[in-house]
Amino acid sequence: MKILVVGSGAREDAICQSLRKSDRFNDVFCAPGNAGMRLFGIQTVGIDELEFEKLANFAIENDIVYTIVGPEKPLVEGIVDYFESRDLKIFGPNKAAAQIEGSKAFAKELMKKANVPTAFYEEFTDLGQALEYVETKDQFPIVVKANGLASGKGVFIIKDMGEAIDVLNQLLTDHKFQTDKVIIEEFLEGEEFSLMAFVNGDHFYPMPIAQDYKRAFDDDTGLNTGGMGAICPVENIDCEVVYQSYKDILKPFVKAMKKNGVDYTGVLYAGLIMTKDGVKVIEFNVRFGDPETEVVLPRLQSDLSKVISELLKNEDVNNISWRDQGVDLGVFVASKGYPTAPILGKSIGPKSQFIDQQLKINFASVSEFDNELVTNGGRLYVVKTHANTLQNAQDKIYSYLDTVDQTNVFFRTDIGKNSY
Ligand code: AMP
Ligand code: GLY
Repeated sequence: MKILVVGSGAREDAICQSLRKSDRFNDVFCAPGNAGMRLFGIQTVGIDELEFEKLANFAIENDIVYTIVGPEKPLVEGIVDYFESRDLKIFGPNKAAAQIEGSKAFAKELMKKANVPTAFYEEFTDLGQALEYVETKDQFPIVVKANGLASGKGVFIIKDMGEAIDVLNQLLTDHKFQTDKVIIEEFLEGEEFSLMAFVNGDHFYPMPIAQDYKRAFDDDTGLNTGGMGAICPVENIDCEVVYQSYKDILKPFVKAMKKNGVDYTGVLYAGLIMTKDGVKVIEFNVRFGDPETEVVLPRLQSDLSKVISELLKNEDVNNISWRDQGVDLGVFVASKGYPTAPILGKSIGPKSQFIDQQLKINFASVSEFDNELVTNGGRLYVVKTHANTLQNAQDKIYSYLDTVDQTNVFFRTDIGKNSY
């Protein structure tokens, strides 16, 4: 069976690797993919994730059975609507449904309708009104969010009035991230975790929870990044909390989407936080999380390609089974300078070095030059493993990473440690 995955990061690599584990001997293509993926048998296709027409032509010419979309941008821009208009099967929400991620205001409205607990918030398009509102707050921090897509960089934890003036000016005067609207919301405190589910109409099939390490450096210091590592499962969040999250958050939200005409097929991602008043939603995303997927999908014991086939047929999916023992851990290696100015075009070693090692790798922003892999963006590859205990998983990963030449790269040394 031929399957096309759209995207170019480690998440897409993890999806491709999972699809290839099938006993159906799936032939997996990734557009545009990256040079690292090719080392492990993924066929990359030189078409950008926003070139819908070319992607659809490729799918037709190559008898692709269905396409899976990794990143949010093509979803928010309507890749699903376009493929469906050409009678092609594609797994992901349509443009209307993808607004859950494309517009924080839209998602908040839907949460309100579903009675789903989330931070108290107000929306603003006018700088003066936004500043006036902040002045009424007697307590910092508060949180300011750009309304549209910002690759995880549009959230600001504001510590004082000076910072509020600066950030609100960047967003509402300079229109950073092309935004003309902000959400100002209450700061929530607690341990965060990510809950993803396969969704089909008003049915949902949850995956094991995971945790993403968002800050660039050890001890959760430095700027927010696309994620420097992840762990599955999450030690401090017990089954009862996860069950409550299905019952009080995912279920009512999926129902409210359906009731409000949002017909959702795809993966729904809930970024959650365990506050002293219970679990609340930080955000919903309309796709597999990155880097959570890299540590969650290896725990899937069912055949991912069959699960998605069934979801696309709008059938109930029976018995999606997950490994429930041990720990899956992943640590990202990033270009020096990430997330502000990653160094580009620098060697990270010969290709053979990555093929020969014992641990699993998913590649992201790498390209090739001669026989070497070179940096082509911020996050380069995630090194991951499964082990019986966290300590064993960390020992395995970090004893490998200690051998990596760190001239051009860095990584966090505390992924998996509980920093909360
Ligand atoms: P988002 O892009 O909405 O996932 O936000 C990125 C990160 O900002 C989250 O993972 C949280 O760590 C933090 N964050 C977002 N909203 C809030 C909030 N209301 N209170 C506290 N932290 C938040
Ligand atoms: N790990 C956060 C995200 O995928 O948005």
